[in-house]
Amino acid sequence: MKNEILKLLKKNPDSFVSGQSISDYLKVSRTAIWKYMNGLREDGYKIESVSNKGYKLLSSPDLLTFEEIEPYLNTNFIGRNIIHFNSIDSTNIKAKKLADSIVKDGTIVIAEEQTSGKGRLGRNWISPQYKGIWMSIILKPDLNPIEAVKLTQIAAAAVVTGTEEFGIKTYIKWPNDIVINHKKVCGILTEMNAELTRINYVIVGIGINVNIDETEFPGDIKHIATSLKIESKKSINRQKLAGNILNNFEKLYVQFVKQNDLSSSINICRENSALIGKNIIIINRETSVEAKAIDIDEDGRLLVEYKDGRRESLISGEISIRGKESYI
Ligand code: BTN
Repeated sequence: MKNEILKLLKKNPDSFVSGQSISDYLKVSRTAIWKYMNGLREDGYKIESVSNKGYKLLSSPDLLTFEEIEPYLNTNFIGRNIIHFNSIDSTNIKAKKLADSIVKDGTIVIAEEQTSGKGRLGRNWISPQYKGIWMSIILKPDLNPIEAVKLTQIAAAAVVTGTEEFGIKTYIKWPNDIVINHKKVCGILTEMNAELTRINYVIVGIGINVNIDETEFPGDIKHIATSLKIESKKSINRQKLAGNILNNFEKLYVQFVKQNDLSSSINICRENSALIGKNIIIINRETSVEAKAIDIDEDGRLLVEYKDGRRESLISGEISIRGKESYI
C-alpha cells in the first residue's frame, strides 16, 4: 500500500493530492493513509501536508528500495521482487539463506551497507553505507551446473553496459572484475548450490563502488580501488544505475538461458576487455605463470599464450589474473 501511495504522489510532483482522492482510489480509510504517510516519512520521504489540500511529495531519499528503482526498470522478472536492507552482513549470505524458500527467479537482495561483504577467494569487500550498489541476484536457471560460470560474464557485460549509459567507460578484467584506469570499481561473486546435473540456485553478487570518495577507501586498497564518482568526477544516481544494470542483465540472461545464446554477452566482454592483447600473470594457488591474453572464446574462456607458444583456454574458478605492469 505504501508503494501505491508513493506512486500517486510521484505522479503529481507539483501539486497536492487530497486525502479523500487517495482514499477513494485505493479504498482505504483516511486514518490509514495518514499512518502510511508517517511510515513514508520515517523511510526518509519529505511529504508536506496541508489541511484541505492534501499531501505533496517534496523529496525522496537516496535509497535502493524497489519503490526508488522501479521507475528505471523495464524488466519482466529480474528485480521485480527486491528485498532491501539498511545494513546487513552480506547480501550473498542473505540471498543464500532465502534462495531455498524463494522460488521466483530474479529476486534481488540489496543493502545500503554491508558489514561483512564477501569478495572472491575469501577476501572481504568494503561496502560503505549509501555509497555503492551491493546486491545479489537469486537465479534458478534450468542449466547444467558447469554452465553457471557464464552467469558471471553476463553480469560483467550488464555492468559495463550500465555504466556506459552514464557515459563512463569501464573495462572487464576477465572474469569478474570491472576496472577503470587499472583500478577496480566493481567485483562479482557468483556462488552456486547444485547437484551433479541440476542447479538448485545461483547467487550473482555484484558490488559497485559508486559514490565513494578517495579518502573513504582504507589505506591498503587505495592504490587498487576506485569509484565511478572518483573517475567521472560526478555523483551517480544509484537507483538509475541499478535499474540499467538489471535491465541489461535480464536481456542477456534470457538470451542465454532461453535461447542458449551467449554471443551478445561475450561480444561485450571482448570489446570491453582489459586483458586482451596484454601480458598477464596467471595465479593458481601458490604458482604464477606469465602469458599473453589472446581472446575470449564463445564459451567465455580466456585464451592465453604462454612464452613457449603453447595456448590454453582458461575457465574461471580458483585462478586469479594480474596485469604484468599493475595489480589490476
Ligand atoms: C570480488 O571481486 O572479490 C567480488 C566482490 C563481490 C562483492 C559483492 S557486494 C554484493 C555481494 N554481497 C557480498 O557479500 N559480496 C557481493
